[in-house]
Amino acid sequence: MVRIPVVLLSVLVLTAITMASVQNKGAAEIDLYGGKSGNVPFPHLRHQNVLEDCNICHTLFPQETGAIQKLKDAGELKKKQVMNKQCTKCHRQLRKKGEKTGPITCKTCHVKVEKERDK
Ligand code: HEC
Ligand code: HEC
Ligand code: HEC
Repeated sequence: MVRIPVVLLSVLVLTAITMASVQNKGAAEIDLYGGKSGNVPFPHLRHQNVLEDCNICHTLFPQETGAIQKLKDAGELKKKQVMNKQCTKCHRQLRKKGEKTGPITCKTCHVKVEKERDK
């Protein structure tokens, strides 16, 4: 009588552990669309490792490829909203605190592909 729930419980626990370990973390490096200023190469995995909490970013947009563009096209995200509210905001805050951070100037984030190729 008592055994069935125990077996069920361990199956549920094991399933939860397995699901957590195969969590889809997406690509390690992502090339984000940045308009005329040029695309933005984004080290996704490095941010995951340093920041740990996925929701620091994935509250504004879901964990899907092309999510930002999709929401911008639908008018649910403004252009530059992610850039200003997340990327640059965080980098600036960390710089103020004197901690290791990411770029805050346009050209260190946006890379002109054509120019890179002409070099
Ligand atoms: C610093 C911001 C940031 C953090 C933190 C972050 N992500 Fe992302 N993630 C992004 C961006 C930006 C994209 C690209 C969205 C797009 O293509 O429009 C993305 C895309 C994804 C995708 C879609 C697949 C892909 O490669 O495009 C998955 C899955 C994903 N993230 C999972 C996670 C998980 C799981 C975590 C936590 C362990 C996490 N992310 C943490 C910014 C972040
Ligand atoms: C920390 C990196 C970072 C910095 C610094 C940065 N950007 Fe961005 N920018 C992005 C990202 C990521 C996007 C795409 C997401 C979004 O639209 O919020 C973007 C989007 C944009 C867009 C909109 C593209 C579109 O048509 O949808 C423009 C325009 C832009 N940036 C210009 C600039 C200018 C000008 C500066 C300097 C004042 C700048 N950016 C600094 C990362 C950055
Ligand atoms: C909550 C804070 C936070 C957010 C949000 C965030 N970053 Fe960063 N970023 C960091 C930190 C911390 C580092 C330094 C990582 C390390 O220690 O390697 C970094 C590093 C980087 C680098 C690497 C610079 C180098 O030295 O090579 C790039 C590029 C970058 N971020 C772009 C972005 C873009 C684009 C976004 C928005 C989609 C973003 N970051 C959002 C905290 C953040």
